[in-house]
Amino acid sequence: MAILKLTKLGHPVLAQRASRIADPSAPEIQRLIADMIETLDDSGGVGLAAPQVHQSLRLFIYRVPDHRATHAPDDQPAPLQVVINPEIIESSADLADEWEGCLSIPGLTGKVRRPASIVLRGLDAQGAEFIRPAAGFHARVIQHEADHLDGIVYLARLADPRAIGFHEEITRHRPAIEELL
Ligand code: NI
Repeated sequence: MAILKLTKLGHPVLAQRASRIADPSAPEIQRLIADMIETLDDSGGVGLAAPQVHQSLRLFIYRVPDHRATHAPDDQPAPLQVVINPEIIESSADLADEWEGCLSIPGLTGKVRRPASIVLRGLDAQGAEFIRPAAGFHARVIQHEADHLDGIVYLARLADPRAIGFHEEITRHRPAIEELL
């Protein structure tokens, strides 16, 4: 296992549409998954997509930490999840705005507008298909990571063009900036 180098915004792999994975059981895919888990654990983030470690493949991992989950039925805390060849097969009409960050855009945070709930279809680390409803933070992290596989970062989905800033500043001035948005 190894901690992989993270791609930063501006690297072309983050703007590219990633390729489907033909064989999830291939040793190089299993090794990539193990390395991505180690890399995510090291970074302290909640999600990581393969393009963020220089691999243009349709694979991401995420977890739902207890303190981020709303504990609604489709937003329960979850240990690490592996998602291969994801498809968001349903998106709610109702939208939600919440602050997001990204390991490839260090230091910044933005308020992002996304469907409040979704249904995800994908393959797990063993290549078995699953269908998973998600809401709240759970829906948000899945959509953020799935966007990376289409070359999209959260900056493209800001709730307001002014809803972006350094994490430190936003934290300090949150009530005042929220009032302006
Ligand atoms: Ni990201």
